[in-house]
Amino acid sequence: MSAVEDKTRAAEAALEFIEDGMTLGLGSGSTADIFVRLLGAALESGSLNNVKGVPTSENTARVAREAGVPLIEVDQADKIDVTVDGADEVDGRFRLIKGGGGCLLREKIIAHASDLMVVVVDETKLVESLGAYALPVEVDPFGFTITAKKVYDALTAAGVVRPDVKLRCRGDGNDPFVTDGGHYILDCACKALADPEQVAARLNAIPGVVEHGLFINLARAVIVGEDDGARVLE
Ligand code: A5P
Repeated sequence: MSAVEDKTRAAEAALEFIEDGMTLGLGSGSTADIFVRLLGAALESGSLNNVKGVPTSENTARVAREAGVPLIEVDQADKIDVTVDGADEVDGRFRLIKGGGGCLLREKIIAHASDLMVVVVDETKLVESLGAYALPVEVDPFGFTITAKKVYDALTAAGVVRPDVKLRCRGDGNDPFVTDGGHYILDCACKALADPEQVAARLNAIPGVVEHGLFINLARAVIVGEDDGARVLE
């Protein structure tokens, strides 16, 4: 079965977590997009009612509008009941790497503010240990070359051997990719992260780092789309 079908099975299963009247965090990426479209269909058919979304990116806001999902501004949300979002890597302790799409700051703000974060992935995202996927680190453009050196030092101090820290660029060009919040992304190829908590703590201590893609202690359920259905890990 294709990754798209597996992602769709995971997104379908995530609808089981949604109840009438909820305010939802709407994640970003291809799997979250599928969930948003399914949510729109459920609202249109009347199987769900009075659900509102808080999007984690401009792209998700556009997908939600197309799908007919009512949106509210993040600062109008009294509470966020459930956030459904994808991930680039998930380990056995529900630690995640996110940010492949460059939306990690808003994703983390919304996930942290939610009563429940549900992660929707296909099987390829499950890993024994994090780090094969380059860790995205969102930085302020001011002094980003200084920040990049500090990020390298932090990764090295946390046990990463010769990390490769690269500024993310748009397409094939040399123009920096700019996030919805106006920041840059450093993609940090580490090969392996033996101690994700230490990496997170060291990155959090660097002034130019706005946020990083390690999501630790946030996900409470992971739904894995597979050939014959969806597996819910809780
Ligand atoms: C967006 O910034 C990311 O965190 C995505 O959630 C992540 O890259 C997963 O995307 P897919 O669902 O497209 O694989």
